[in-house]
Amino acid sequence: MEMTAAVLTISDKGSQGLREDRSGPAVASMLQEAGWRVVHRAILPDEYEEIRRELLDCCGQRLCLVVTTGGTGFSKRDVTPEATLSVVERLTPGIPEAMRAESIRITPHGMLSREAAGIREDTLIINLPGSVKAATECLGAVLPALRHGVEILRGQAGECGGHDHGEGGGRHG
Ligand code: MTE
Repeated sequence: MEMTAAVLTISDKGSQGLREDRSGPAVASMLQEAGWRVVHRAILPDEYEEIRRELLDCCGQRLCLVVTTGGTGFSKRDVTPEATLSVVERLTPGIPEAMRAESIRITPHGMLSREAAGIREDTLIINLPGSVKAATECLGAVLPALRHGVEILRGQAGECGGHDHGEGGGRHG
């Protein structure tokens, strides 16, 4: 299976060129190191409709994975989870649960990310928080399980039992 992925940075300042996007590149390189092919990257403002449209476009292209970074907090402009929830057909609650469990071990602020995740057709969409630190910590918590999840989604997984299905990182066992 070719593991295709998109990385979307959601940031008003980033989209206007007022802030360098460091999280998008950091997330993309983590994915690449784990064997994902990042075929699309974009920086969008915190606008519900724009985020929604971009997510629908990525799903229409049948990408395996779409990872967003930013717009998951309590600011009134933060609508990434709502845009995500509006396009997914099925929730994947274990992914945000794992990310928040790991985040809260690191900082109480971890509970302030409203990150969501779910499936639309053949695509898994995952929200990460916006800072490089938060985004990479959260992605690190779930990355070892993503390949197996996408293989099951696409009906390409082998046996579930007994094997180590991680894709590096040694966090499972
Ligand atoms: N998660 C981890 N692992 N590490 C962090 O430092 N920061 C939090 C949280 N999640 C953080 C984290 C903070 S301070 C905020 S405000 C929320 O994510 C939301 O971030 P966002 O609005 O940039 O998406």
